[in-house]
Amino acid sequence: MLNFEFKNPTKIHFGKGLIEKLTTEIPANAKVLMLYGGGSIMKNGIYEQVKSALKNFEVVEFGGIPANPEYAVLLKALDIIKTQNITYLLAVGGGSVIDGTKFLSSAALYTGTNPWDILEKGIRTDVGMPFGTVLTLPATGSEMNSGSVISRAETKQKFGIGGPGLFPQFSILDPTVISSIPANQIANGITDAFTHVLEQYMTYPIGANLQDRIAESIMQNLIEVAPVILNNPNDYNAQCEFMWSCTMALNGLIQKGVPTDWAVHAIGHELTALYGIDHARTLAIIAPSHYRYNFNAKKEKLAQYASRVWGINEGSIETKAHQAIDKTETFFHSLGIKTHLSEYTDNYKDASEFIHKNFTDRGMLGLGEHKNLTPDDVVKIVEMSY
Ligand code: NZQ
Ligand code: ZN
Repeated sequence: MLNFEFKNPTKIHFGKGLIEKLTTEIPANAKVLMLYGGGSIMKNGIYEQVKSALKNFEVVEFGGIPANPEYAVLLKALDIIKTQNITYLLAVGGGSVIDGTKFLSSAALYTGTNPWDILEKGIRTDVGMPFGTVLTLPATGSEMNSGSVISRAETKQKFGIGGPGLFPQFSILDPTVISSIPANQIANGITDAFTHVLEQYMTYPIGANLQDRIAESIMQNLIEVAPVILNNPNDYNAQCEFMWSCTMALNGLIQKGVPTDWAVHAIGHELTALYGIDHARTLAIIAPSHYRYNFNAKKEKLAQYASRVWGINEGSIETKAHQAIDKTETFFHSLGIKTHLSEYTDNYKDASEFIHKNFTDRGMLGLGEHKNLTPDDVVKIVEMSY
């Protein structure tokens, strides 16, 4: 096991009917900017619950943060924060609203002249404006981590930021919010969380058995709950399992003391930037090709995953490892997620050159757990996914 440091300061309220906890979690004298997305919270009763809990606070609202939170939209919210002397941010939404709020938390206290620098230069946030979240869509783990990914449509860019100042102070996880999520977004959430585990697991053996077994159990849980929650999004036990699995997949715990990969995400973000494909679907496009291309480097963990997660115990390491990749792809298909780029866009052949140029320009010359995947390797992985 590698050396590590672990601190996760986010307080979780998990369970039915807990949105009212906002009343005690937000400081009494705060001037709150409540941020939300395209309006789903108006239709499913979440807006009323939040407003009722905030009735004794001074609250300004900012709606309209789109999926893949857009820099130009967030600048309008930043203006409100500054002109209206906001002191506390509250995200009510999925990963996009939470990530947008994290960027605002950073930008609100940023002393430089251009907030774009935070994204383009990847400036780490040690202290941000305090914020909390009400999660409405399990998927990203953003509710309990310090990462954020922001898009800029104008330049077709999508950049990640982070830093210890970007953990939410608290997050309210009421699993009943899942009842109103459309099936395609539930499928996205399962795929995203599952791939988060893969990115932190599918590397090489390091002798961190506890992390491996926690990772394997999150994957097993997601595989088990997927058909249940897709079939009946009102099943409370399934809601709980799905929501907590997604949070645990990316709250920092399973990446401690182990090598991590994250190449699938790095490449996937480019597909979202270029084509607007949902984040999770980009991962399902890239992951199978990535594991096939890097087969030799990853075959031992692939075989372990085959045996412990999929129950494949026959044959050589190579046989089990190949079957595990096929099983993963079949799992994505079972959720209704397509795994080839050409199934999403007719212009798929633009992808490899676009990504090669971006990674070269940004100096992203060595991806993966061995930091040895060059832009030329990435071209091959992307073309395998066509
Ligand atoms: O905008 P509204 O109207 O609220 O609708 C949203 C949106 O259209 C809808 N939705 C959310 N909760 C709902 C609901 N519809 C009905 N009922 C509810 N309860 O779902 C749609 C998608 O929402 P979004 O927040 O975009 O989805 P997700 O949570 O998958 O977030 C994706 C974003 O997170 C980033 C992705 O790159 C992408 O930009 N990620 C963030 C990470 C992090 N911070 O750690 C890690 C991830 O790997 C990922 O990169
Ligand atoms: Zn993800």
